[in-house]
Amino acid sequence: MSWTRKHLLDIESLSADEILTVLDTARAFKAVGERAIKKVPALRGKTVINLFVEPSTRTRISFELCEQRLSADIINFSAEASSLKKGETLKDTARNLEALNADFIVIRHSASGSPHFLSRVLNSSIINAGDGAHEHPTQALLDAFTIRERKGRVEGLKVTILGDILYSRVARSDIWALTKLGAEVTLCGPSTLVPRTFEKMGCRVTYNVDDAIRDADIINLLRIQHERQRKSMFPSLNEYSSLFGLNAARMARTKPDALIMHPGPINRGVEIDSDIADCSRSLILEQVTNGLAVRMAVLFLVNGGRGPQEVAAA
Ligand code: CP
Repeated sequence: MSWTRKHLLDIESLSADEILTVLDTARAFKAVGERAIKKVPALRGKTVINLFVEPSTRTRISFELCEQRLSADIINFSAEASSLKKGETLKDTARNLEALNADFIVIRHSASGSPHFLSRVLNSSIINAGDGAHEHPTQALLDAFTIRERKGRVEGLKVTILGDILYSRVARSDIWALTKLGAEVTLCGPSTLVPRTFEKMGCRVTYNVDDAIRDADIINLLRIQHERQRKSMFPSLNEYSSLFGLNAARMARTKPDALIMHPGPINRGVEIDSDIADCSRSLILEQVTNGLAVRMAVLFLVNGGRGPQEVAAA
């Protein structure tokens, strides 16, 4: 399978073969990142604009560093200091950025569908860095990459996603990616945050945390997305933590080789106890490291790269 897409807008529209092409290409880029000289000329002469209209630490810095490693010219757009504050629309802002000959626009926005909208009104390649509660495709790709690297496969693994599923773009992208790759995905959290409608995506839903974690190979924790909740979805953070937080007592009831993941930012003492976030079974920082190789692979592929076989020559 070779890659032919101009944009990366979501995981829902990707085939399993396309996802595997990204993961294999990322593996080749991870090897590049382990060399003394980590830079390749693949995007030399190309301009990337990082259009982050919503806060980000991991995704924004990961994209910036991977663009540098691919030798692109980079513009980091600051929403706070921009004319968006004067009422300019996203379309006009993006068209002005494109008029500067942007080849790629990496967009994070609170509005679901904004990357898809830009892909219709611009000629640049668009990469979704998180749109509202809809999708966060590069997070799902780096999660799948990390699971595959640590467990040797994704197919047949039991993956539990525990937390605020309803408002989570990571949950949606992870569900698409992991089910397409053959994992058995279980969702768990308060019933207000895990509606049964997610079963239509091919997942199991349970509200019993012990049932959700007992047989899991991977436990992927999600924070409460307060910024997207329009009303209180549970009585208190203390109650959430005691009913659904991953603590030492619950960890003791997991399989000894179960691994813990979290896309970040983590809220220590709420969805995850501090000791567990930092324990040897936590992959949280490995996920961040792998994000670099995965995002290099995505930019390489949307720039016309066809797959891992071309990375050595990049
Ligand atoms: N995982 C993730 O998207 O983190 P940031 O919001 O810090 O980019």
